[in-house]
Amino acid sequence: MRLLLLSDLHAQSKKDPGGQDAKLLCDDFRADVNANPLLSLIESAKSSEEFSCDYIVCAGDMTNRASPDGVRFVWEKLHDLKNTTGAKDVFATVGNHDVSSRPPEKNDAAAIAEHQDTFPRENLMRLAPRFPSASEEKSDKYWSHGYYLERLNGFSVNVLIINSCWLHENHTDLYRGSITSYTLEKIRHDLSALSAEDNIGLTILHHHPHQHSELSLGSDDVMRNGQKLIDLLNENGEWLIIHGHKHHPKFVKAAGQIGMPFVMACGSFSGQIGGANASVSRNFLHRISIDVAKGLKGVVETWAWLDGLGWKKEGTADNKFPKSFGFGFDGDLRALARSIETDIGGQPAKKWIELQKTFPETRYLLPDEIRLLRRHLERLGLQFSGGDNSALAPYEVGRKMK
Ligand SMILES: [Fe+2]
Repeated sequence: MRLLLLSDLHAQSKKDPGGQDAKLLCDDFRADVNANPLLSLIESAKSSEEFSCDYIVCAGDMTNRASPDGVRFVWEKLHDLKNTTGAKDVFATVGNHDVSSRPPEKNDAAAIAEHQDTFPRENLMRLAPRFPSASEEKSDKYWSHGYYLERLNGFSVNVLIINSCWLHENHTDLYRGSITSYTLEKIRHDLSALSAEDNIGLTILHHHPHQHSELSLGSDDVMRNGQKLIDLLNENGEWLIIHGHKHHPKFVKAAGQIGMPFVMACGSFSGQIGGANASVSRNFLHRISIDVAKGLKGVVETWAWLDGLGWKKEGTADNKFPKSFGFGFDGDLRALARSIETDIGGQPAKKWIELQKTFPETRYLLPDEIRLLRRHLERLGLQFSGGDNSALAPYEVGRKMK
């Protein structure tokens, strides 16, 4: 199952406050399609299989400051992207920017009058097809209870869409996400009805459910009751949580004693990236491929936006977030190193691509696991060669020269 992830698009119209600074304009029809990240992706998907996927995922902040034009544009284009990539559906949720507008300048009477009768949540509820699900029942549940749960029978995967901005009518909650005990109780009830074998799940929400404060990204905005959500999911199968908001890609396991969900923080597709993060992150598009027949195991690929050139795989965030890496390896790295050493035997070296045929689980190694495997192999007198990034798989593994 392949998921194409677009988060934090922050689309605006040129006429919106601050619209001139937006990276994704909904009324930008320059001849060069590679000046618009979303239109460029749709064009590329028309002529190439590179971005093919089963589902489009949007983890919120479709727009900036609740621009009605921005939100309509992104929702329409996500469906165009669904059609061009051959995806079956779009899974989306709201971000703080989709539900909270800022008042216009005090001296702009016309804008103030318009603002008084503009409600971001109503703009979202009026979208066609319905947001976040074309199913009336699921969208109604999302708006009334803060979530909906869907079973993807073709893949035997559960998808839980959470509105982490459910309390954003409350101004003090504008800067952090939340999930209330009411919604947690409802989700617990729904999960308890699932069969024990159907235990792979995706949760999609905007805010980070656990701390994500490196690069001075701030620590006060962590989702209220986020750990309770993580613990609840952990009691009910294997989960991958996908969120946006930070504009800084990160892939980790949530903290806990056993099991624990993977948590994927998406980079921003076309939003501004500020502070120390600007020297690390760019605008990113991700695809997660899950080999569901084997459990929650798969590969994360990342493309970076190069203005004027389009989406390219060369750009990576840093060596913790390479352009491609796996997740879900559940073996013993020391034992794997010993098996590789035995397999190489008396040969001077063996290509990684050949080793992967013998040891297919190496496809699911996280960047830190690749680093650790490398250290175990070095202790056995082997070394990585090729690859300029310590977190990436090598070109080959060979005997150290004596
Ligand atoms: Fe954002």
